Amino acid sequence: MSAVFKNDTRSIDELIACQKPGHSLDQRFYIDPDIYELELEKVVYRNWILAGHVSQLPEPGDFKVFKVADESAIIVRGSDGNLKGFANVCRHRGSLVCLDQEGHADKFQCPYHGWMYDIDGNLTAARNMNDDFDKSTHGLKPVSVGEVHGLFFVCFDDNPPSLEGAIRDLQEPMDMFDFKNLKVVAQKNYPIPANWKLSIENYQECYHCATAHPEYALMHTLMISRDKRGRAAQHMYERMEACGIKDIEVDYIDGAAHPGEMGYGYWRTAMFSKYKTGSRDGKPVAPLLGSIKGYDSGQSDIALGPFSYLLAYNDHIVAYVFTPVDHKSSNCEVYWLVRGDAEEDKDYVVDELTWLWDVTTASDKEIIVNNYKGVHSKYYEPGPFSKMEDMESNYIDWILSELQRP
Ligand code: FES
Ligand SMILES: [Fe+2]
Repeated sequence: MSAVFKNDTRSIDELIACQKPGHSLDQRFYIDPDIYELELEKVVYRNWILAGHVSQLPEPGDFKVFKVADESAIIVRGSDGNLKGFANVCRHRGSLVCLDQEGHADKFQCPYHGWMYDIDGNLTAARNMNDDFDKSTHGLKPVSVGEVHGLFFVCFDDNPPSLEGAIRDLQEPMDMFDFKNLKVVAQKNYPIPANWKLSIENYQECYHCATAHPEYALMHTLMISRDKRGRAAQHMYERMEACGIKDIEVDYIDGAAHPGEMGYGYWRTAMFSKYKTGSRDGKPVAPLLGSIKGYDSGQSDIALGPFSYLLAYNDHIVAYVFTPVDHKSSNCEVYWLVRGDAEEDKDYVVDELTWLWDVTTASDKEIIVNNYKGVHSKYYEPGPFSKMEDMESNYIDWILSELQRP
């Protein structure tokens, strides 16, 4: 750890008060394990995180294990057909219960002493316990699971933020892509040896795109695309209606704007006119989604809470989920989704579908790691954001305000 950090005796509150608005964060926010612990409590475990699409767990007993930092949850389709979440922690002496990442189960058996739980979390068998042992009070503890138009989310808090606003305001745009009937056809984890905030900060700004992402910059109009109805995006607006795409904009609000509610947003951005979708040559890579009737050289961005972001092309969706592993490392989980009835190798080829965001995420990982190395230096000093880093700047402000929330 750097000398700067060791000599810094300011309390976290004092440190927050010293942050310069419109600047990157002080070194300690990226390397101090105490700040990380506070972030877990106040930010990470209190908010919804995208954990998958309902099509991944169609039948009762289908499950998936979802890990964030020190927590692990079993998300399972219960016997009543609803998705349920349980802490993956045995009620005997705390072993992880389910060691598989996903699959189908009739029951979950703890690998330590064999306690058995059914798919609704009830303890059904525990050998050689005393006569007064009550199985009914030793079921797996519940973890919050919520759904937004086919996407399911996990929150490690019994009082999670409300999803109502997101469900209501994103219904129209998400119905357009028929989110409920998509399917996941590829999923890849990119472990990033850097503090989680640097991974998300990177995703939130495209100031780096021109230098770091030649593939992406070729097709996306970067800053200009956000300039609503600006000249560079005109071709998209002219085509949108003919493609059955409504011009909907849901201003991004973070949780601070509506306390107690998950933040969300939706907006459409233009690609250069020769690109129909986010693919190697700009040509379609899968059947058109939902009610969309053609290509307008546009793409929608959807933000769902502080850890989950989606890119909606006219023929496929790419979902990004950033989570901390510990204070020094994070995961970037990427999902690629297409129409539920699309057939592999006939309607889409996985390598073609995943190419753009695979190369882009690999280069992001590299620049994030360089960033993480640099902020450890005694010469690092928070620097000013460009106007292309507004979202990142707001995100940092939100984190700081959450850290101070009781
Ligand atoms: S810790 Fe699970 S059965 Fe003992
Ligand atoms: Fe990037």
